[in-house]
Amino acid sequence: MDLKSFFTAHWEYLAVKTACEMNIFDFIEQGSFSLTSLAAKGKFDENFLHFLLQALHHSNFICYENEIKLTENGRILTENHPKSLKYACILWAEEHLAAWQNLSFSLKIGKPYFEMQGEKDYFGYIENNDNEFQIYHKAMYEYARDDYEKLPQLIDFSIHKAIIDVGGGLGALIEGIAKSYPQIKCYLFDKEEVVDLAEDSIYEKLSGDFFYKLPKTADALILSRVIHDWNDENALLILKNCYDALPANGKLYLIENNIDNKDFRFALLNLNMKLMTSGRERKLSEYQDLAQRQGFVFEKSVALNDLQIVLIFYKK
Ligand SMILES: C[S@@+](CC[C@H](N)C(=O)[O-])C[C@H]1O[C@@H](n2cnc3c(N)ncnc32)[C@H](O)[C@@H]1O
Repeated sequence: MDLKSFFTAHWEYLAVKTACEMNIFDFIEQGSFSLTSLAAKGKFDENFLHFLLQALHHSNFICYENEIKLTENGRILTENHPKSLKYACILWAEEHLAAWQNLSFSLKIGKPYFEMQGEKDYFGYIENNDNEFQIYHKAMYEYARDDYEKLPQLIDFSIHKAIIDVGGGLGALIEGIAKSYPQIKCYLFDKEEVVDLAEDSIYEKLSGDFFYKLPKTADALILSRVIHDWNDENALLILKNCYDALPANGKLYLIENNIDNKDFRFALLNLNMKLMTSGRERKLSEYQDLAQRQGFVFEKSVALNDLQIVLIFYKK
């Protein structure tokens, strides 16, 4: 490893993230720009813009010659690209960066960054910060659209009459299932302010708090990337509410990162989880243990992609 380059690697990410945030990739996509006309379009300081464009050219996000053009990397960071990662790019700065910059305090005090800020948890923090709230959920949507693309083909959901995606964010996963299985009644369940942000689609929206109770309207529930946000006590409460909401033989699809035999690869992800939430990545046996303690019976697991696995349980 080239240590001297490693120390300043974040400069490159922050240059790209700033270009996303200031809509520079979107502007370039919309028209033919010189340095001066792009500076006028975004009301940017021309001198600073020149140096930022040079950095973006060097990192292969744009081509900065007489005319400024996007490369494929730059195109993916525009708002309307079908596989856009614009908000996923912005997410890892802002409060995530603040949490990492305060790792030394968490190390001493043993608490996630947001608890030290007097917030209940990360989700409580973003609820009070509209900009961070929007960026987080749009970023999760972009990841979900990609990660769950193959899920409807991988698992036969046709055995179900109704499915609720619990903590489903802006609905990328449940939309995929609803499109593939039009006969199934599909629901998105999340906090009220989150389902309000989700665009109207072919699924129905339900709002509430998964720590309180879940609607008894489905014979299958999905919990994707939810349990890893919480400590065991809270995870057990969510699983109990899932169990209570399902009919006998109803199914629970738990989607999480598979860290078995790869703990080392997940070390940074786990550290991030510790900083942001009270949760952590768990081994498959730990997820099985949590679900079984609430009465679920483990049926099987199916690999979703390189990173994620679907654990399927049913209610006795
Ligand atoms: C890490 S995101 C996962 C989103 C989506 N399932 C995915 O896989 O991309 C966790 C979700 O849990 C939701 N959530 C957090 N606390 C909740 C609560 N008390 N009741 C309902 N949903 C909640 C958040 O709003 C967020 O959408």
